[in-house]
Amino acid sequence: MERTLSIIKPDATQNGVIGKIIDRFESNNLRIAALKKLQLSQADAEQFYAIHKERPFFKDLVEFMVSGPVVVMVLEGHNAVSKNRELMGATNPKEAAKGTIRADFAQSIDANAVHGSDSLENAKNEIAFFFSEREIY
Ligand code: CMP
Repeated sequence: MERTLSIIKPDATQNGVIGKIIDRFESNNLRIAALKKLQLSQADAEQFYAIHKERPFFKDLVEFMVSGPVVVMVLEGHNAVSKNRELMGATNPKEAAKGTIRADFAQSIDANAVHGSDSLENAKNEIAFFFSEREIY
């Protein structure tokens, strides 16, 4: 069993597809072990994406992530990290495989509907960024 962090980004929360995205996880054996909806501050977004600080897209990424509420979740299941990434599809929705969350719900590489941890180690850090152990069941 693994745990991974998923974020439903501001484009998807504003487009009213929170439920449809959660259904993708639950229908594919990823259990919602924790969930909350919140508004990221500038400092939250900068810290969460600190790994991308030197990348040319950092400023736009942070600006987008604070543009509306997000839903953060802990997904739990067999191979949860890679299963979540498979369900999300490629970072750029134009390259995302048919039937993936990004192919179906995302508009652009910035407004790409969801974020998912890219490794087990990052998953642990990203989960700890949003949730205390007693919020995860
Ligand atoms: P995410 O999985 O949340 O991780 C970092 C985000 O930066 C990524 O999804 C994209 O939304 C955004 N981004 C914008 N431009 C790029 C790029 N060229 N390469 C990777 N990520 C990008």
